[in-house]
Amino acid sequence: MSVHVSTHPLAHHLLANLRNTSTDPQTFRRSAKILSTILALESTVTLPVKSSQVQTPLETTDSITLRTPLAVIPILRAGLSMLEPFLELFPDVAVGYVGLERDEKTAKASSYYCKLPNLTEKVAIVVDPMLATGGSASQAIKLVKAESPHSVILVSVVAAPEGVAKMNEDHPDVPIYVAALDRELNDKKYILPGLGDYGDRLFGTL
Ligand code: PRP
Ligand code: URA
Repeated sequence: MSVHVSTHPLAHHLLANLRNTSTDPQTFRRSAKILSTILALESTVTLPVKSSQVQTPLETTDSITLRTPLAVIPILRAGLSMLEPFLELFPDVAVGYVGLERDEKTAKASSYYCKLPNLTEKVAIVVDPMLATGGSASQAIKLVKAESPHSVILVSVVAAPEGVAKMNEDHPDVPIYVAALDRELNDKKYILPGLGDYGDRLFGTL
């Protein structure tokens, strides 16, 4: 399994905004959106393409276009913040939703919603900003794989080693794209140093 950590200076700058506890909700949301756009570009760099020809105003030339349709599947709630950047870059994507919530005591995620489009032959991009224990991402990807996609990609903002290990165990075929790979989880299964509860900071439910 491959883990790709962004080396883009702007990604690191925006992540610093997200980590900073003094960042106001407006700046948090704006930083989250731009950072997700960077991750959307980086995570799609190996998308299947096909060669074709295009007529410019002057002549015909070889060109490259995307070969396989895409689907983006945000894990509710926090993953919603990563959907719009993908829609702006890839307006034709199909969109699915998986609702998962971690129990505050056990940190085990349980599913409360799942609505997926037809994923046959599509590259399915699962987006969730936090990969902590990996329970949420692993469950969501299991649901996605049941719909026979061409392939699956996971895009997160921050990952913990525990989440990466879980993904490696359950879904070694799924590449992971992140802005940072953090140190560890605390005893409440929050990522350290992390940025706190992404969904709460994004939606002002602290
Ligand atoms: C957060 C986050 C991930 C999950 C990661 O969601 O958005 O979905 O935790 O943790 P895990 O890797 O240990 O499963 P949360 O359950 O807090 O729900 P929310 O997005 O609605 O805030
Ligand atoms: N979910 C979050 O939002 N933050 C963490 O640190 C872990 C899970």
